[in-house]
Amino acid sequence: YLELSLRPQRLSQYIGQDKVKENLDIFIQAAKMRGETLDHVLLYGPPGLGKTTLAAIIANEMGVNLRTTSGPAIERPGDLAAILTALEPGDVLFIDEIHRLHRSIEEVLYPAMEDFCLDIVIGKGPEARSVRLDLPPFTLVGATTRVGLLTAPLRDRFGVLSRLEYYRESELSEIVERTADILQIGIDPHASAEISRRSRGTPRIANRLLRRVRDFAQVLGKEAISEELSSEALERLQVDRLGLDHIDHKLLTGIIEKYRGGPVGLDTISATIGEESHTIEDVYEPYLLQIGFLQRTSRGRMVTDAVYRHFNLEVPEHD
Ligand code: ADE
Repeated sequence: YLELSLRPQRLSQYIGQDKVKENLDIFIQAAKMRGETLDHVLLYGPPGLGKTTLAAIIANEMGVNLRTTSGPAIERPGDLAAILTALEPGDVLFIDEIHRLHRSIEEVLYPAMEDFCLDIVIGKGPEARSVRLDLPPFTLVGATTRVGLLTAPLRDRFGVLSRLEYYRESELSEIVERTADILQIGIDPHASAEISRRSRGTPRIANRLLRRVRDFAQVLGKEAISEELSSEALERLQVDRLGLDHIDHKLLTGIIEKYRGGPVGLDTISATIGEESHTIEDVYEPYLLQIGFLQRTSRGRMVTDAVYRHFNLEVPEHD
């Protein structure tokens, strides 16, 4: 499927995240040389930066199967036991949103990660006894946007911890041009640069904007995306100069108009603009913090002077 084939399959095709990539390359090579399973890997960072893609690449490079699930999808310890016992030796088990695993399920995971075994309790009350079941060795790849929410015992059981960072514009341009190539549409370098500038450091957003701009090109009967066409399309998509969309705008102007710039609590903001507080915290805030548009204080979120300037508003006097 196209969405999947857009993703790079090998580490050498993966653009950006150089430190993460170089380290993974060494750990993968070393594990292969020793004929061992790769140690468990925790990937963390904002959404859309390529955690799922890296998990697939790890499996591919190790030459094993990838099994995918997510924290919220595993409801009972038995669900996890079923997944673990179905693994083949060396497989990669990818658990997305691993911070959302229930504690009772985490406890099943500890011996599985550490000793490749499952402790199953059979019977109830005084009759209950524990049976130990061997599992094939496997690599757990966990992904999370919120590493701070992982319990220490879970975090400590990962041998490799990799933080993904927002991408540079030059890296995003490379990604956009690679994707355009796969989609078989030409693109002017100025157009890919403009899309990259407006993608909040995030390949998922860059590829989404590229697809929408390509729709404009298609309907207008153009064979390539020119600078002019991309500017017009991006204007119509309501993505501003910095890549902020209408939800970012609602969030920032909401804090200014209703709370005089803050500080204001996350839940209050959530109720004001009608977006889930988790979504605000995981998807919107990280980038706004990164570009210095938001500050987190003990009394809540505050917008910075840069936000007033961005919206051509008078910067308030500070006392
Ligand atoms: N597509 C999405 N993210 C990518 C990346 N980091 N490298 C190459 N292609 C990508």
